[in-house]
Amino acid sequence: MKINELELVAQAKEILYGNLRGGFTVPTARLYPFQWNWDSGFVSIGFANFDLEAAFSEIHSLLKGQWTNGMIPHIIFHSETEKDYFPNWDFWETNVNPGAPNTPKTSGITQPPVLGFVLEQLWEKHPDNPQVVDFIKAVFPKIVDFHQFWYEYRDPYREGLVFIYHPWESGRDNSPLWDAPMNRIDLENANLPYYQRRDITIADASERPTKLQYDQYVYLLQLGKKHLYEGKGIAEESEFLIQDSMINALLISSNDSLIRIGKKLNLDVGKIEEWQQQSKKAYNDKLWNDSLGTYTGYDLRQQEQLPYWEIGGTSALFAGIPSAEKAQKIVDHLKELNNSGYFIMPSFDVHHEYFDSRRYWRGPVWPQMNWLIYFGLQRYGYPEMADIVKQDLLELVSRFGFHEYFEAQKHLVETTHGGYGGKSFSWTASLVLDLILAT
Ligand code: GLC
Repeated sequence: MKINELELVAQAKEILYGNLRGGFTVPTARLYPFQWNWDSGFVSIGFANFDLEAAFSEIHSLLKGQWTNGMIPHIIFHSETEKDYFPNWDFWETNVNPGAPNTPKTSGITQPPVLGFVLEQLWEKHPDNPQVVDFIKAVFPKIVDFHQFWYEYRDPYREGLVFIYHPWESGRDNSPLWDAPMNRIDLENANLPYYQRRDITIADASERPTKLQYDQYVYLLQLGKKHLYEGKGIAEESEFLIQDSMINALLISSNDSLIRIGKKLNLDVGKIEEWQQQSKKAYNDKLWNDSLGTYTGYDLRQQEQLPYWEIGGTSALFAGIPSAEKAQKIVDHLKELNNSGYFIMPSFDVHHEYFDSRRYWRGPVWPQMNWLIYFGLQRYGYPEMADIVKQDLLELVSRFGFHEYFEAQKHLVETTHGGYGGKSFSWTASLVLDLILAT
């Protein structure tokens, strides 16, 4: 199909400016009316192509929410006017932890550590700009603190692999990967507080997590709060304790970026190199699953891998983790999907009974994942497959608009609609723009 790239870029810019709220963007106006952590990293990359000030202030705004223990929260509630969002700042009650800022209010969990490689992307786009160097020098130590948080609080066995204790931290909220560990939660004795969701009054309930999943999310939120959102007790008590393939891949990738940047600028990278010594080896040893032909998460509670093909494992390519042979297996899977009627890349195994091509992280295509996979494939020498990943996303966006996520089955977009969730979505705009202008 003929794609008008100039038109897409113009629309993307309009969406990004439309979602700006005094220094940062919201992912989309009504559904997510605050600042989200990894969304902002991706937005900064897009802005860096045409508005450096906006790229910087996106990150500065995010860092205003950083805790003294280094954590950068998954949501920063810059304004307290949106009172009916759930779970709002008053539900999180992050003041149980003395290191949480009072202003702005934040959530008590985190999200994928993208900021290290975001800094490198900004610098690569503007290699000779002293303003970018000043910006990097200012934020570099804060991002190192963020990584320190991961290794200090989320790696209890000092393996070089970090855990998450809430699916929202993975960025892939209701992936079928989480079903088994989440279903071990004893909700009957959980004494959950009353709460009211807002997402299903804005988006179609069939495209969102279920009521049971929401109860489980709230349970884990309460558990975090009980342990001041950082205590060792989380590792001891949480049924949901996962060394996630994508969190660890992006942490490794950001470590590498910080090391390269730090060396060029004469900044201390000793600590990061120490973390990195273990991480890639541990990742390969523990998260590779040969019969699936990909990396997957590891359930620390059950001490076993989560036995599914899921999109998180593909981010290992971006991080340069697999050998050429392992990379080939991941790419074979992509090729097979491309040849059998799917847009690349469905977020879950299309042959599995849990696959649901419209429900959020259980099947649909996600723009930021395509961006990661694109660069991963380029890195491993698969430019043609990378181009398919890019073109599929551009096709979906030009046919259906800048949605949050998209239908993965080609034959279905003819009969149902192709775009799901929020509209005029920031990271969709940012990364479509980046794929057009920067590749
Ligand atoms: C959803 C996504 C998460 C994203 C957030 C804001 O919760 O699963 O990855 O950061 O929305 O866009």
